[in-house]
Amino acid sequence: MDIKPLITADEIAARLADIGRQISEDYSGKDILLVGVLRGAFMVMADLARQIDVPVEFDFMAVSSYGASTQTSGVVRILKDLDEEIEGRHVLIVEDIIDSGLTLNYLMKSLRVRRPESLAIATLLLKKGIQRVPLDVKYVAFTIGPEFVVGYGLDYAGKYRNLPYVGVMGEGAQEPAEQSADS
Ligand code: IMP
Ligand code: MG
Repeated sequence: MDIKPLITADEIAARLADIGRQISEDYSGKDILLVGVLRGAFMVMADLARQIDVPVEFDFMAVSSYGASTQTSGVVRILKDLDEEIEGRHVLIVEDIIDSGLTLNYLMKSLRVRRPESLAIATLLLKKGIQRVPLDVKYVAFTIGPEFVVGYGLDYAGKYRNLPYVGVMGEGAQEPAEQSADS
């Protein structure tokens, strides 16, 4: 499989340091509950958290969207809910990538009703201009085009999550028949 590097490991580290600093300022004097969206966000969550210097706790959700693997269907199912109560807490959702925005739109709605003190989103990647729903994304490390990317947590048919950089799938990539189970 041909994968063309798009964002290097050094570039990712530098942007996460910026965003971590920004988050530390914005949440100064507060505690944050970081909510990672499994599985793709595990890597950015680990690296971003180490750049934040206010007290942080961790929780994870797993969601599944159905449809072709390189496209989103908008149907979201919660496979694993939070372990923590979030009422009155400062919740920061950490995502790997926002494409249509449907996954996060759904997650925001389902978390908002639990009445957190604040609820915001940090994402490694935002696909430019193709959000199908309005979504207020507070922290974006990189804005990219519509191309399908892998690496640094992001998969194609379950693979390539371990690449230390973000790359674009080359020509000849085959669509698997079924979407990978998770987001
Ligand atoms: P949504 O379209 O914003 O709901 O994105 C849903 C999910 O699709 C993301 O959380 C990713 O897991 C996955 N996804 C979207 N675009 C890509 C991509 O370019 N590479 C890998 N996964 C992607
Ligand atoms: Mg995801």
